[in-house]
Amino acid sequence: MRLFIALNLPKKERQRIERAAQPLREDDPPVRWEPIDNLHVTLKFLGQVRAERVPGIQDAMERVAGATQSFAIDLGGFGAFPTIRRPRTLWLGVDASPALRCLKQDLEWALGDCGFDAETRAFHPHITLGRADDRGGAGAFRGMDDIAAGMSFTGSIPVRSLDLMESKLAKSGARYTLLSSARLASS
Ligand code: 2AM
Repeated sequence: MRLFIALNLPKKERQRIERAAQPLREDDPPVRWEPIDNLHVTLKFLGQVRAERVPGIQDAMERVAGATQSFAIDLGGFGAFPTIRRPRTLWLGVDASPALRCLKQDLEWALGDCGFDAETRAFHPHITLGRADDRGGAGAFRGMDDIAAGMSFTGSIPVRSLDLMESKLAKSGARYTLLSSARLASS
């Protein structure tokens, strides 16, 4: 099974994001937009995992969540990987606050204990809004940087749980299912 650990967003916030991202959609770039229910922040991508490893992952998540006070993350800024002029992934930014970095690091350590390699790439927390598809030729994203720069969105969402998600890939796009949640300690 293909797994990742996510911070899921309240429905109201997903709806706000969807509305705020409308100017990008209206430009009609060659992008497969994520369905609103898919919007999330990935904390750790686990990849293809055998089912017997799931209890170990859940234990690690419980340990980390239980030792972390619930906190809020700030959202804001539209951008793209690798660049807005030639994007593969279009996203809404998430502030990499000390609390979020600590949570990510604790999770890396706990999962390292059960055999998962630590992420070597820099942590750029984000909410993927869409992915460029192969309809785009040169110049398909011309003007996108100005559109993104002119858009404003700020939000703050509570982080109350770590969610273990399964991703099933289909022609129409990925479908995500919640397998389990580990609750953070409440203040
Ligand atoms: P993305 O949205 O930035 O592409 C489910 O696929 C989640 O796992 C998505 O949020 C995706 O991030 C992330 N993901 C998929 N493949 C990944 C990889 N190889 N490394 C890190 N994250 C990955």
